[in-house]
Amino acid sequence: MTIPARATNSLPVSFERVRKTSLELASTLAPEDTVVQSMPDVSPTKWHLAHVTWFFERFVLEVFDDSYRRLNDGYDFLFNSYYYSAGQMHARPKRGMLTRPTLDEVIAYRRHVDAAIQQLLHERGDNTEITDRITLGINHEQQHQELLLTDILHVFAQNPLRPAVNPSLELPPSAAPASYAFITGPIGIQEVGAMGEGFYFDNETPRHPALLHEHQIGTRLVTNAEYREFIDAGGYHNSSLWLSDGWATINERGWNRPLYWAEDLASQYTLGGQRDIDPHAPVCHISYYEADAYARWAGARLPTEFEWEAAAASEEIAGNFLDAGHWTPAAADGSQLFGDVWEWTSSAYAPYPGFVPLDGSLGEYNCKFMCNQMTVRGGSCVTAADHIRASYRSFFYPDARWQFLGIRLAKDGGA
Ligand SMILES: [Fe+2]
Repeated sequence: MTIPARATNSLPVSFERVRKTSLELASTLAPEDTVVQSMPDVSPTKWHLAHVTWFFERFVLEVFDDSYRRLNDGYDFLFNSYYYSAGQMHARPKRGMLTRPTLDEVIAYRRHVDAAIQQLLHERGDNTEITDRITLGINHEQQHQELLLTDILHVFAQNPLRPAVNPSLELPPSAAPASYAFITGPIGIQEVGAMGEGFYFDNETPRHPALLHEHQIGTRLVTNAEYREFIDAGGYHNSSLWLSDGWATINERGWNRPLYWAEDLASQYTLGGQRDIDPHAPVCHISYYEADAYARWAGARLPTEFEWEAAAASEEIAGNFLDAGHWTPAAADGSQLFGDVWEWTSSAYAPYPGFVPLDGSLGEYNCKFMCNQMTVRGGSCVTAADHIRASYRSFFYPDARWQFLGIRLAKDGGA
């Protein structure tokens, strides 16, 4: 499959590549696979393919192109996700009830919107308001490409036959990493947030000073073998390691291992099917609660998002991304700050000082989620390589496990 590497300067080419990639990611699926919703957090593949298309229709074509005609008026209700200022929407937990439109009809919808966007770019590609909005749509679609894969992983994981989402994925190389080590991070006032170059989301702004205290940060991610030691040491049964909400959650839900690990702790379900657990690969599909408890057990803590950003700011953006074709975390080959797994931080997802959301409906994109969620950093093995940066903030509820989420440790004090 061809997946775009770094962004090209040509917006029509970037648009075409990102649109094509979404279909390629779904190319190993049968139409039946694309309809199912396995839990409210998960959206069906077909819905993702349609919703990202609706985003271009609603926020680009209907704003900037008077000649645009909808393919189907009903899609505005079906494929609006959460933009109340743009109108009413179909209930999120019922997205899996939509056998119609069919997958073929959704693909026809994509073609209809693709042609209109390309025509708009051809005619008014020098209008920065239009190109900025299309660039946002491209980045939005890349976010949904990651969700498409994490969501279909959850759907397939419900199937006792354990089919592979993509049977041709290549396993990454594996070798035992050096024992866990820390390096001293910068202290004092550090500038954090978007640098003002290239694309960034509103939640990365404004760039501002943050105070970092004396700390050390882990030189790699925590591995499956290290997490297994926590399990074997009775970590899931020791209340003193857990936040109150975490202890309640693991007991209510019966959690005693990462999501997708088999009961014998020997294999795990992946996008490539059921596979032996690689002891050297980063542990993933764990909640904030589990990451926090592991860190406490290890005599450490999770980094703040600004400690993480200070460590990542000078790093080349390289790592195990979607483009590598593994779609599973890989044993350490460097700092692992980018790629492999999103890293839980101890920072609540909150607005930066002086934050101003985007105007209009798009102000709903990030701003209204700034409550009760934790910030995660660095991208994962199913994030597009040209989508991530040091200032990038994603966010999940502390009990979320279906994303590629893992652990980097930090400590107070100097070396
Ligand atoms: Fe969306």
